[in-house]
Amino acid sequence: MVLPGHGRRSDPRIGRPRTLRRRGTRRRPAGAAGHIIHQYLGAGVDTTIASIGNIVALFAAHPDQFDLVRADPTLVPAAFNEVLRYWVPLHAWGRAVTRDVDIDGTVIPAGAQAAILLGAGNRDPRHFDDPDTFRIERNPVDHLSFGYGPHGCAGQGLARLEGHAVIAALATHASHLVADDPIRTPSNTTRSIDRLEILEVLPA
Ligand code: HEM
Repeated sequence: MVLPGHGRRSDPRIGRPRTLRRRGTRRRPAGAAGHIIHQYLGAGVDTTIASIGNIVALFAAHPDQFDLVRADPTLVPAAFNEVLRYWVPLHAWGRAVTRDVDIDGTVIPAGAQAAILLGAGNRDPRHFDDPDTFRIERNPVDHLSFGYGPHGCAGQGLARLEGHAVIAALATHASHLVADDPIRTPSNTTRSIDRLEILEVLPA
């Protein structure tokens, strides 16, 4: 990024913007970088926080599943997929409908705004066997928690790194977790935990 007034004329960093201006290419409006960073923070912070809270709460509530990942660390990615499928961090997301779409006999008209219920899709019994059971070995790689299509989550690689690191660290350092019921933060979009009291942690 080159800021006005920075660098000398011979500085190679200022050559490109000058050329772009001469050819009439539009420059980004002042402050655009801030909006881009804000979008990344908005999209990437609450979601990841929600999924990390869900990891701890779910492994405390399902000690048999925690034992599986402790015994076999290669299950870490599968465990994170199942955490995301079972408790979706963003339960509703919007789409602008650009043409009439027929879904099982119901037409969603062009111009409508649709709320996609990602968590409902993750529990669809036509796709996931016994969907209300938390079972890490099912490895649901096609869960909908990162959305779908060209606008699917742009940060899912980073989110996976974080989720895998948390599960691997828990599985390495703890043998048993006891937590109280999570207290949720009500929200139209994020399904996050406001408070999760950890009552006991047995070291590995
Ligand atoms: C577990 C964590 C996360 C979850 C569950 C999640 C979920 C989602 C969902 C559902 C969407 C909408 C996808 C769609 O419209 O089909 C989305 C979009 C997006 N996410 Fe994530 N996200 C997570 C982490 C992150 C992180 C860490 C970043 C960046 C550092 C990020 C950046 C974005 C961006 C930029 C978009 C907009 C993509 C576009 O419109 O083309 N997300 N995310």
